[in-house]
Amino acid sequence: MVKVKFLGHAAFLIEGSRKIVIDPFLTGNPKAAAKPEEVEADLILITHAHGDHIGDAAVIARRTGAKIVAMYDVANYLVESEKGITTIGMNYGPTEIDGVGIIQVPAWHSSSDGIHAIGNASGFIVKLDGKTIYHAGDTFVFKDMELFSELYGPIDVALLPIGGHFTMGPREAAKAVDLLKPRKVVPMHYNTWEPITADPEEFKRLVEGKTEVAILNPGEELVL
Ligand code: NI
Ligand code: MN
Repeated sequence: MVKVKFLGHAAFLIEGSRKIVIDPFLTGNPKAAAKPEEVEADLILITHAHGDHIGDAAVIARRTGAKIVAMYDVANYLVESEKGITTIGMNYGPTEIDGVGIIQVPAWHSSSDGIHAIGNASGFIVKLDGKTIYHAGDTFVFKDMELFSELYGPIDVALLPIGGHFTMGPREAAKAVDLLKPRKVVPMHYNTWEPITADPEEFKRLVEGKTEVAILNPGEELVL
C-alpha cells in the first residue's frame, strides 16, 4: 500500500516501504498541513529552486538524514548554501535510489533563487512498491507528457498544478490528463495565494469520465 498525502501547495509525502517528500514548502505556506519538524523522510525530491518548492528541504534533511534528490545544479546550490545535508544531483533521466525508481522529467518552467538561474525545472516519476506517481512540478502542458505514460505508465496518480499564472490552469491540466492517462489525478499549486486562484471542481468537470479526480485538502491522503 502506498499513501500519497497532500501537505499543501505542491508538497506531498509518499509513504510506502520508503518515505518520500516532494517540494516540502511548509514554513511560510499558509496552507501547510505539517510543520517541518513533524515530517519524516528517507528521500526529499525538489523539482526546482523556487522558494515555494525548496522550502524546508534542508531543515528536514538535517534532522532526518534524508537525502535530497534534485537537478544537479540545484543540488550543488543547496550544498553551497546549507550545512550538514546530503544531496544526490541528477538530470533528466531514470535512476534508482534505495530501491525507489526515480525518473526526473522535464517541466516547462524556470528555476532560480528569484534572480539567478539555477539548473532547469523538472517533474518526477516515482516508482515505489509497484505504484507509479507523477509529480509534475511547476509546468505548462506539453505534448511530450505522452512519453511519460508510454515509457513509465500506467501512472497510478498524477499530481498536477492547476493554479494558472505560473503553471497550467484547469484547462491545460485537463489536456495533460489526455496525454498522461493517469488512473487518478490530484490537483495542486492553487489557492495558496491570490495569483494562483482556481476552482478544482472546474478541473474535475473538464476531466469527467477520463480519470478519477481526488481533490485533497491539505492533510488529506489518497491510498493507492
Ligand atoms: Ni516555480
Ligand atoms: Mn511554484
